[in-house]
Amino acid sequence: MCLLGIDLGGTTIKAGLVDRQGQLLARGQVATGAAEGARAVLGRIIALAGEVAQRQGLARREIEAAGIGVPGWVDVARGLVRLAPNLFWRDFPLQAELAAELGRPVVVDNDAHVAALGEMWQGAGQGYRSLLMVTIGTGIGSGLILDGRVWRGVAGYGAEMGHVKMVRGGLPCHCGGRGCLETLASATAMVRMFREGLAAGRPSSLQDQPGLGAREILAAAARDDSLAREVVDCAASYLGQALANAVLLVGPEAIIIGGGPAGAGEVLLAPIRSYLAAYLGPWQLKPLPVLAARLGNDAGLIGAARLALHEQQNREEPLLGASSLPANHKNVSARGGGYVPEPRKHKRR
Ligand code: BGC
Repeated sequence: MCLLGIDLGGTTIKAGLVDRQGQLLARGQVATGAAEGARAVLGRIIALAGEVAQRQGLARREIEAAGIGVPGWVDVARGLVRLAPNLFWRDFPLQAELAAELGRPVVVDNDAHVAALGEMWQGAGQGYRSLLMVTIGTGIGSGLILDGRVWRGVAGYGAEMGHVKMVRGGLPCHCGGRGCLETLASATAMVRMFREGLAAGRPSSLQDQPGLGAREILAAAARDDSLAREVVDCAASYLGQALANAVLLVGPEAIIIGGGPAGAGEVLLAPIRSYLAAYLGPWQLKPLPVLAARLGNDAGLIGAARLALHEQQNREEPLLGASSLPANHKNVSARGGGYVPEPRKHKRR
C-alpha cells in the first residue's frame, strides 16, 4: 500500500507515490494549463495519477489515500478551494470531485502548508517543531508549523504570506489586492522586473527570450550580471522584510526557503538572510537558521502524501485548540488539523 501525493502548481502538476516511510517510489508531472479552467486541470490531475500508479504497477485500489496541495486558500474540512489566485479558481469542490474520480479518500490543503509538512517529515525541517516555510514560484506561499501542528487559522487562510501588503497602492495582484509580497518577490515578479530593466535600456549578459525564468536570472546574478543582481537583491529585500515581520509575529525556530528559485542556493539565500537580519535588528535568535528546502520540487507531493497518511491514522483526532473557538464557528477544519511528527532526537542546526 502507498500514498498518492499531488502538488498542483500554477505552472506544473506533480504527482508521486510515496510509501509510509516517506520514500518516493514513482513520480510524474504535466503542465497545469490553468487558462483552460478547473475541469481541464482536474482531468489532467486524474490522468497523471493514473499514469504514475501504472508506472509502479499499481491498481487504484492499492493506493491507500491521496493528498493534494493547492496554490490557494483551502477550507480543509470541506475540501473546498476557496480562492486560488494564480489558477483563477473560486469555491471549487476539489476533494469531492477528486475522491469521486479516484475512488479513494482524498485530503486537500494549501500547497505551501503541505510543502512545510514534507520538509519537516523528510527534509530540511527534520528535528524542528516550529518552522516557517516560504515557497517562491508563480506566487509566494507559506506554511507555518507551530509546535508540530500545521497552523491554518480560521477557515484555512492563515499563513498566506504571499498576500501580505508591502507597498501602499502597489502593483495589482491576481488576488484582487495591490502591493502583495508575491507581486514583488515571486519568480514571476523577478522576470517582470528583469524585463522592465532591459526595456529601460539596462545592459545585461542575459537577453530576453521566450520562457525566460527566475532560474536564468539567478544564474546570471551568480555570474555577477548587474541587472540580474539588482533584481535578485530587490526580491530578497522584500522577502527579508516580510520574513522579519513574520518572525516577530510567530517566533519560529527555523525558516525554510523552497520553490524553484531556492534551488539556486546562496545567490538568493545570502541576501535574504542579510535583509532579514537587518530588519530584525536586535530581535533575533542567534542563529535563526534560514535553510534551503532539501526536497526541491518534491516537497509538496511528499508533504501531501504525509497529510493523507495523517488523515488515515488520525481521522477522529480533533483540531488542536478547536475548543477555544466559538461554538457556532462552522468553518474550522475539524479534520486534517494537526500533524505531530514522529518523535526523534531534536537536532539543532
Ligand atoms: C496563493 C497561496 C499559495 C502560493 C504559492 C499564492 O498566490 O495565494 O495560497 O500558497 O501562491 O503557490
